[in-house]
Parts: sequence; structure tokens; C-alpha cells
Amino acid sequence: MSQFENTRIVLASRPEGRPTPQNFRLEQAAIPAISEGQVLLKILYLSLDPYMRGRMSAAKSYAAPTDIGQVMEGGTVAEVIESRDPSFKLGDIVLSYSGWQSHAAASGAQLRKLDPANAPVTTALGVLGMPGFTAYAGLLTIGQPKPGETVVVAAASGPVGSAVGQIARIKGARAVGIAGGPEKCALVRETFGFDAVIDHRDPDMAGKLAAACPNGIDVYFENVGGHVWDAVFPLLNTFARIPVCGLVAQYNASGDFPGPDRLPMLMREVLSKSLTIRGFIQREFVAAQGPAFRKEMASWIADGSVKYKEDVVQGLENAPEALIGLLEGKNFGKLIVKL
Ligand SMILES: NC(=O)c1ccc[n+]([C@@H]2O[C@H](COP(=O)([O-])OP(=O)(O)OC[C@H]3O[C@@H](n4cnc5c(N)ncnc54)[C@H](OP(=O)(O)O)[C@@H]3O)[C@@H](O)[C@H]2O)c1
Repeated sequence: MSQFENTRIVLASRPEGRPTPQNFRLEQAAIPAISEGQVLLKILYLSLDPYMRGRMSAAKSYAAPTDIGQVMEGGTVAEVIESRDPSFKLGDIVLSYSGWQSHAAASGAQLRKLDPANAPVTTALGVLGMPGFTAYAGLLTIGQPKPGETVVVAAASGPVGSAVGQIARIKGARAVGIAGGPEKCALVRETFGFDAVIDHRDPDMAGKLAAACPNGIDVYFENVGGHVWDAVFPLLNTFARIPVCGLVAQYNASGDFPGPDRLPMLMREVLSKSLTIRGFIQREFVAAQGPAFRKEMASWIADGSVKYKEDVVQGLENAPEALIGLLEGKNFGKLIVKL
């Protein structure tokens, strides 16, 4: 690759169901020129996240879709290699939203400086970044776990789920995780310290979950939907809170959802058990809670009460396969591409 070229991955076509490598295109472009107030960034790390599947689709959502031919969106950690903003100097490391490319121009106002002496810079994409904040804001604002209560979360080895369980324990609740496969379950139990963990591929997942929650479920932090929700639903206690954070089990679905209409049953339970079900997009809480999150999460990491795991893939060209795998549980920890 020439140092004068920007390597980037654009959306080539919209997927029907499961994305394929053909939905992406790797191309070269000129490195952008910067204007006054801007910096030129060399991207070091790209975050891969489940929401990117939504951006590939034209379906109506909370954010506009990526256009065909446009660079795939994404959070990045980057180095400043040219600056026309006096508050940034060459070599500064910043958090930016530059997407799937090797270089990008950005306005200084859109960047947050990172101090590599404080924490590994990749944590700004995971435990100290958007996914960690999602867990913090969704659990504490909507879930409101109390000492002795039972909190259940799936995708428990990932950046959101692992933080949910560990914060729940810090607040004195029992954390029950759900994850796919023995390796992930061992991580959730042994490293993240959950009180119990269930493998969602176990044919008796529902029975095992019931046994792990003898006092029912007070908070279900919804990350996946699908068959996990079916197992959780009968165990919800009166006044249970359900922050609806994600439904990754259905992101690749196309067309209508199969099966009978279960909405009347759901509404009956919402009423008779006084359930609180509240969806959220993390950014609605950023202005009010972002600074407190960064301070509190940094102190939990420092004192060892929150641990994290990263899964680093080498090379931008491998990002499409890695994102496709993420939607099927092939990642093992916060998925990051090292450029
Ligand atoms: N609302 C917001 O603002 C917001 C912000 C960030 C993330 N989110 C959502 O939070 C959730 C977790 O995100 P993350 O970044 O922490 O992802 P992640 O855990 O790194 O990756 C997604 C995980 O979902 C699990 N999964 C996939 N299909 C599944 C299925 N059919 N049944 C059960 N589990 C399945 C897989 O883990 P296993 O192998 O363990 O099954 C996979 O590793 C996602 O739904 C995401 O969209 C929402």
C-alpha cells in the first residue's frame, strides 16, 4: 500500500439475511486534504459492533443507513499525522468515528484525546467506550439492580454483557450470564466472576436457567432476543425491569418473524406482573452520564472489580469476515480490527 493512498471498505450491496463478503468492497482512494480546524488521522484500530448490520440495511431504524458505495461506519482509535487545529499535535492518539478506512480527515471538535498512560487505547472502543457505557447506562438507569436481586444477561462474554454482569455484582446483585459454548461460559464464570452461567446451546437451557434463578429474575438485560427471551420470560418476577439493548439473534432475519402472534401473552404479563420494558440507544444518556461513567469505570478497572477481554483481528481486509462472524457468535470478547 502506498503511503499516499487511503485504503477503505465501502458497502457494495445490501445483504438479504446473513451478510456475505460480496456486500463489501475494498478500494483505494486519495488521502483527504485537511482544512483549517481539521486534523489528518491514521487509523490504528477499528471497532466492530453488531449495530453495523443495521447500517447495511435500508430498513427504517434509529440511524440512517450507510449508502451503497459509502465507507462503512465505525468507531476508531487513530493517530494525528497532520494538524491544522492548534489543540492537536502530531502523534496525539484520539477516539474518532472515522469508519472502515486507513486515513480520515476530522474536525478537532469531533475528537477525544486518549492518554495511553491511563489505559490501553483499545479500551476506548470497548470497556471504557461505547459498549461499556451502554451496559452502565442501561443497567443503572433502567435496570436499577438492588442488593440480592437476580440480573440475567446474554452475550455475557461480549463487551456489553460482561460489563452488565460485573456492574450488577458491584451493586450487590446476583449475576447470571448466558453465553454460547464452554470456552465463553468459562470466561464469564471464572474471569468476569458471574454467579452462574448457562450455555444457550444446551438443549435444556430453559431448565438450567430456571435452576440458576431460584428466586426468579428481577432484571433481564436484553441483548439477544430469540430463544433466550423465551427461556427468560416465564421466570420474570413482579416489577421486573427489562432494558432492551439489542436483539442480535434477529439482526440477520429478513421478512416477517415466524410463529404465532405472542403479543397478547406478552401484554398480559406486562400488566399482571407490572413489568417495565424499555428500549434505549446509549447515546441518549451520553451527555448526562458519560463523564461519570468514564470516572467510575476507570476506577473499577483499576481496583480489579471490572475485567475485560478483547478479540483483535489483524488487517482491515479481514473486517468483513469478522463482522459476519460477530453476528454468529464467532468473536470472543470485544471485537477490534488492528490496521
Ligand atoms: N442499545 C444500544 O445503544 C446498544 C449499544 C451497543 C450494543 N448494543 C447491543 O448489545 C448487544 C451486545 O453487543 P456487544 O457489542 O457486546 O456484542 P458481542 O457480545 O461482542 O457480540 C454479539 C454476541 O451475541 C451473541 N449471539 C449472537 N447470536 C445469538 C443468538 N441467536 N442467541 C444468543 N446469543 C447470540 C454471540 O455470543 P454467544 O456466542 O455468547 O451467543 C455474539 O458473540 C447487541 O445486541 C448490540 O446490538 C446496543
